[in-house]
Amino acid sequence: MSHADDHEGTRRDFLYYATGGASAVAVGAAVWPLANQMNPSADVQALASIRVDVSELEPGAQLTVKWLGKPVFIRRRTEDEIAEANAVDVSALPDPDARNANIAEGAEATDANRALDENGEWLVQMGVCTHLGCVPLGDAQGNTGEFGGWFCPCHGSHYDTAGRIRKGPAPENLPVPPARFDGDDLILG
Ligand code: FES
Repeated sequence: MSHADDHEGTRRDFLYYATGGASAVAVGAAVWPLANQMNPSADVQALASIRVDVSELEPGAQLTVKWLGKPVFIRRRTEDEIAEANAVDVSALPDPDARNANIAEGAEATDANRALDENGEWLVQMGVCTHLGCVPLGDAQGNTGEFGGWFCPCHGSHYDTAGRIRKGPAPENLPVPPARFDGDDLILG
């Protein structure tokens, strides 16, 4: 079933693409390169690591940033979304691997192993379908798929509220990139 209708009008998705060397503010979320501009390899560093102010992202909202040329979904999940993700039997998942670059390789795909923070509020994942690389849809496009998370219309892959593949041809969960908090800022890379 689709959960889009449940939250219509309360969820908001934001799209912001960081461009090389630029800084900007989008709905309170700023993205800028960490690289020292005096460093000759600043361009390379800027691509490798970005800092995102997520302090004004409300529960149920998603910010999409571009990192290493690819979209990254930063979602601040609602309590319902977290509870839904926790209720899943991990042994029944198509891909039982957490696919989280921040924890041990091969860890199981529990919600706790997918979320970035202890409360499970923050989910950070690549916005690239693991089938053939389309960008999955979410709330902003009014299609969260059959499991309330993301839906890839290219060939019909459904991801749940933890970004785990649940149905369709995609073989793996959406990968969680290297990410950590520094105060209100999220650092990718
Ligand atoms: S690329 Fe997403 S289902 Fe094929």
